[in-house]
Amino acid sequence: MRYPEEVIEEVRMRSDIVDVISGYVKLQKKGSNYFGLCPFHNEKSPSFSVSPGKQMYYCFGCGAGGNAITFVMEYENYTFTEALKYLADRAGITLPEQEYSKEARAREEQKKTLLAINKLAANYFYYQLKQPQGRAGYEYLRNRQLSDDTIRHFGLGFANKVSDDLYRYLKSKGYEDSILKETGLVTVEERGGRDKFWNRVMFPIMDVNNRVIGFGGRVMGDGTPKYLNSPETRLFDKSRNLFGLNYARTSREKYILICEGYMDVISMHQAGFTNAVASLGTAFTSQHGVLLKRYTDQVLLTYDSDEAGVKAALRAIPILKEAGMSVKVLDMKPYKDPDEFMKQLGPEAFRERIAQAKNSFLFEIQVLRSQYAMDDPEQKTRFYQETARRLLDFPEALERDNYIQAVSREHGIPYEDLRRLVNQLGSRLAPGSRPAQPAAKGEGERRIGERKDKEEGTRQSQRLLLTWLIENPGLFQKTEGIISADDFIEPLYHRVAEMVFESHSKGKVNPAAILNHFINDEEEYREVAMLFHASLKESLSNEEQKKAFLETVVKVKKNRLDRDSRQARDIGELQRIIKEQAALRSLNISLD
Ligand code: UTP
Ligand code: MN
Repeated sequence: MRYPEEVIEEVRMRSDIVDVISGYVKLQKKGSNYFGLCPFHNEKSPSFSVSPGKQMYYCFGCGAGGNAITFVMEYENYTFTEALKYLADRAGITLPEQEYSKEARAREEQKKTLLAINKLAANYFYYQLKQPQGRAGYEYLRNRQLSDDTIRHFGLGFANKVSDDLYRYLKSKGYEDSILKETGLVTVEERGGRDKFWNRVMFPIMDVNNRVIGFGGRVMGDGTPKYLNSPETRLFDKSRNLFGLNYARTSREKYILICEGYMDVISMHQAGFTNAVASLGTAFTSQHGVLLKRYTDQVLLTYDSDEAGVKAALRAIPILKEAGMSVKVLDMKPYKDPDEFMKQLGPEAFRERIAQAKNSFLFEIQVLRSQYAMDDPEQKTRFYQETARRLLDFPEALERDNYIQAVSREHGIPYEDLRRLVNQLGSRLAPGSRPAQPAAKGEGERRIGERKDKEEGTRQSQRLLLTWLIENPGLFQKTEGIISADDFIEPLYHRVAEMVFESHSKGKVNPAAILNHFINDEEEYREVAMLFHASLKESLSNEEQKKAFLETVVKVKKNRLDRDSRQARDIGELQRIIKEQAALRSLNISLD
């Protein structure tokens, strides 16, 4: 589904963003931009801005942003092609017949076929469940207190004891071995085809558009593995899909519940909590975070109450926060997981637990506390110190103070004492550098944390520099010979930088046009849109800002040279890099 780039660009150019958005949102002019109430989140005062100059929109409240095409996509819930057709129509442009590359067409075709096979398989399993040979499965599910409605709603099914019936069924529908192998549902060897799932109850996994992309199959007793899952295929990417999200996304609740398993999701939905999802047997990934952020900015973790569940929660919290969500943690005790909880105490009690969910920072501190013997003065002191160190991670004084209050209340530490400890520790930290931590538990984790911080720092300075260049085109000239597109080493920023530098050399940087190149990948597009909007409130007017700019240039350059030196293949190259590194130390850019 590709239109030539010129066509896309023409549609975009002839769809003035203010004009398009005015059809949906009441806009008011303020300075060179327009403002209105954001259509993508609930708000009372306008933080949604539209820039006619950049031909882009951005919401300072929820971070939604993009160009005219993406606005229509988001607002109307259209695909890219649908949005393009809509705008072309509106602007009186006739779109050419779609151009497919041969490979793209083959890929699309294969994907369609795989989806069709998965759907057939899901229907087959569902049908089996209701047959005499499926009785064991049906009774298993009913014994787990699932209603017929729930079984139908989730399309639960049964893979019977015959070892190749699904294979033969799919063959009878005309599918070749070569494509069947790609589904992960069967294996094909010399002796013939074999079904992957055998004597198990089946849970179809759907993407957000309700298409079956894989399966989980549970043994009906104590066998191993307890759950067998489809392998990753062209359709099924575990780190980008969440079980139940197809239903949860339309739930009316503002927040989403995240749990560990199939049965947890299903039990919660059956009890009316249709906003529950699970990351299936894999750790929660940042892609999961980005995916969820499309639908909510509040999540509640309802992981198992065992040690593994606590660990999984501790790992998911920073990922979710990084994705921009507020996180709380539910306590399921004394029950193992939401499924068991629901069976024992029911939805009302569950609702109470939701109301009592703990702020994720306070949850982390509570887990931390359990690692110290609090009746030993030395260990208790260490707990306080580590708590103070973590409180220092809140950069905002006011927010930090709120947390100091909450922690002191919860753990019976006198507020003034804790505050003093945090401040002492804060003043001991030289600005910008963290002191070596005493070798203690969690040292490894902290190192990983620091490496992540550094990576994020590297990305951030590239992001910042790119934004600066876009906002103040005069800087291209000022940094000529110092900064080029190749200094942006983060792959996505590198691609953006190449386009930015090229369009600058041809005259004018056009953010909305550049954004079009990223429209096919939602994650990338969001990040690029943000890049074009992270506009700096002030220009480079005061000394402090000039200093910050210079520092950023040095950082970006240094990171690039560091990387080059790690990859250098001969001594000559290395010498060149070292020379450049030395030159960097005396770099000066005049911004006046
Ligand atoms: P659990 O072992 O907690 O299972 O695994 P559960 O959800 O409580 O399942 P029931 O209630 O015993 O049926 C949580 C999730 O981890 C994945 C599955 O997605 C499961 O729902 N898992 C677990 C696997 O993929 N394979 C396994 O062997 C076990
Ligand atoms: Mn469980």
